[in-house]
Amino acid sequence: MKHLLSIEELSATAIHSLLGDALRLKATRGHHETPLTGQTWAMIFTKSSTRTRVSFEVGIRELGGFPMFLSKNDIQLGRGEPIQDTARVLGRMVHGAIIRTFAQQDVVDFANISGIPTVNALTDDEHPCQILADLLTVKELLGTWDNKKIAFIGDGFSNMTISWMWAAKRLGFTLYVACPPDYSPPASFLTKLNAPNVIITHDATLAAKDAHVINTDVWLSMGQEDQTEKELAFGPYQVNEALLTNAASGHIVLHCLPAYRGKEITDDVLEAHASTIFQQAENRLHAQKAILVALVLA
Ligand code: CP
Ligand code: NVA
Repeated sequence: MKHLLSIEELSATAIHSLLGDALRLKATRGHHETPLTGQTWAMIFTKSSTRTRVSFEVGIRELGGFPMFLSKNDIQLGRGEPIQDTARVLGRMVHGAIIRTFAQQDVVDFANISGIPTVNALTDDEHPCQILADLLTVKELLGTWDNKKIAFIGDGFSNMTISWMWAAKRLGFTLYVACPPDYSPPASFLTKLNAPNVIITHDATLAAKDAHVINTDVWLSMGQEDQTEKELAFGPYQVNEALLTNAASGHIVLHCLPAYRGKEITDDVLEAHASTIFQQAENRLHAQKAILVALVLA
């Protein structure tokens, strides 16, 4: 694996291998290999982050490397220097790059131009690191996603939903996406996805019925904060106790965080499922260490 830019471009074999490594690195934390020794990895972030930033900084250090955090305001990118020129410079100095930004194309361009291993730490199109941590959590808590029903309740065409839909395509599990009609995946995307196991519905109860995993995310993703009218469509898509009465017994609730209590999830549901949700957050560290190891050993 030369880069990790999307779930779309990962094979099922690669996903299984990364999750196996993540479990191993989790079990051996503190006394595993340090393949990043002597390396500096740039972390270019043009959006806010708690989990992704901290987990990558800690993960790079635990693997022997040095993380260099560069918010867009620290570097000339924030004053209009093109990502392509940034890539040409950093490619000559650092050993790898972790990028959180808006356009997927910027991450693709950076990867192609810099020539160094590049990781998508969230774009408007995908959040692959998060989905690997989510899958790791499902594997730990439910053993497998085979013959499980996974439901995503909320925005039908956000980075999280898109990455989950590609994960379903690659791994073959049943994924129901319940979303408002105006925030559904476009037909062109669904044609490209071509996954009969991904079912789009506007009925949150139908999606939640007998589901083993109930997953949600913010209604307004980063960059959409002023689109307050968008939230008006999402009332029926809140993950609350009433919705969960439809789910399978032993179901788990996932939220990539940050959570907005009273909007996409109620406070009582988040607190009732906090052990799962914060295990999911911790798994960012282990999954991303597996990604870094795969990239340096490629
Ligand atoms: N889930 C996630 O990516 O969190 P941060 O925005 O805090 O990194
Ligand atoms: N869809 C969210 C995910 C945050 C981790 C966003 O892009 O803001």
